[in-house]
Amino acid sequence: KLRSVLLVGGSGTRLWPLSRLGYPKQFLPLLGDSSALQATCERIAALAGLPPIFVANEEHRFIVAEQLRQIGLHEPSILLEPVGRNTAPAIALAALLATADGDDALLLVLPSDHAVPDVARFHEAVNTARPAAEAGRLVTFGVQPAYAETGYGYIRAGAPCEGVAPVEAFVEKPDAATAEAYLASGQYFWNSGMFLFRASRYLQALQAHRPDILAACRAAMAGPRQDGDFLRVDKAAFTACPSDSIDYAVMERDPDVAMVPLDAGWSDIGSFASLWQLAPHDADGNALRGDVVAEDCHDVYAYASQRLVALLGVDDVVVVETADAVLVAARDKVQDVRRIVARLNAAG
Ligand code: GDD
Ligand code: MG
Repeated sequence: KLRSVLLVGGSGTRLWPLSRLGYPKQFLPLLGDSSALQATCERIAALAGLPPIFVANEEHRFIVAEQLRQIGLHEPSILLEPVGRNTAPAIALAALLATADGDDALLLVLPSDHAVPDVARFHEAVNTARPAAEAGRLVTFGVQPAYAETGYGYIRAGAPCEGVAPVEAFVEKPDAATAEAYLASGQYFWNSGMFLFRASRYLQALQAHRPDILAACRAAMAGPRQDGDFLRVDKAAFTACPSDSIDYAVMERDPDVAMVPLDAGWSDIGSFASLWQLAPHDADGNALRGDVVAEDCHDVYAYASQRLVALLGVDDVVVVETADAVLVAARDKVQDVRRIVARLNAAG
């Protein structure tokens, strides 16, 4: 049986000032009227299976519950992390919960802050991955790379058999020169950050590669406390858990990782440049959201949340207006928005 695990713990600092620590990007209606979290729920609805598990930071519990209620998801399982310890522990909590329920379900692990426009292709990829995951492999979904992104994991895959390729190498976040070489070689895929495996298989992999993380998560789950829709883990035990991503902790190390190609227009909505690409455009290539007037502008992304924003004769810029901050940036510099956030944080 399939059980989705939605990771809801990110902070999305490159989408500041839209995305804030108290209200990060997975909760924002960036594309259309639903948030990325809601769109992810809708994308998996047709896959059916067991009810999904949400793993979120305690601080966001009411936002998560409210957004799920809005889409008609009642009595969801929401695991609350008292602190963020990255994805390896978050997925471990979900796998422990899934196995405690008596089923060794197939876990479909999904970031809640990604866009996957072609839902049919996504479902196809999941169905292709199922037999391999049932047979005990750790399956990841690979995306044809478009440029040398250094913020992604890279996968070198062997010859596919029934749509599933053995992973020969998994390299998380290579440096720029390595990423360029991978892109030029044509032999590498991006890791989409979505995975499919048996709950018990993931726990075995953690036991083999990071027993310290597994032990801490087991301790944290020893006495989970139900609190309404929420399941709280032991704070002291989880706080003591080492922080690491599934990519470094498991995928880079495990000998039996497989990859299914995903060609569904996937994007991690990592920056305003990707948001500009994903959003609908006018004839001049402008993606405008809210109360925006643009005259003689080209390839602009503009988002007005409170006030009228008027743009005249500018190209390739990003303008984001919110109640307490306005960002104006060159479209090719938006990766560095995190530098602004770091500066603001340093200034207190
Ligand atoms: N619950 C929970 N707790 N979720 C978390 C935590 C946490 O502590 N940390 C991150 N997440 C969620 C994020 O919200 C996101 O949806 C997902 O897990 C992945 O975390 P990111 O922090 O966004 O990872 P990344 O973007 O640096 O790298 C991952 O994604 C890339 C694709 O977007 C890796 O899997 C890369 O290999 C991959 O290419
Ligand atoms: Mg990410």
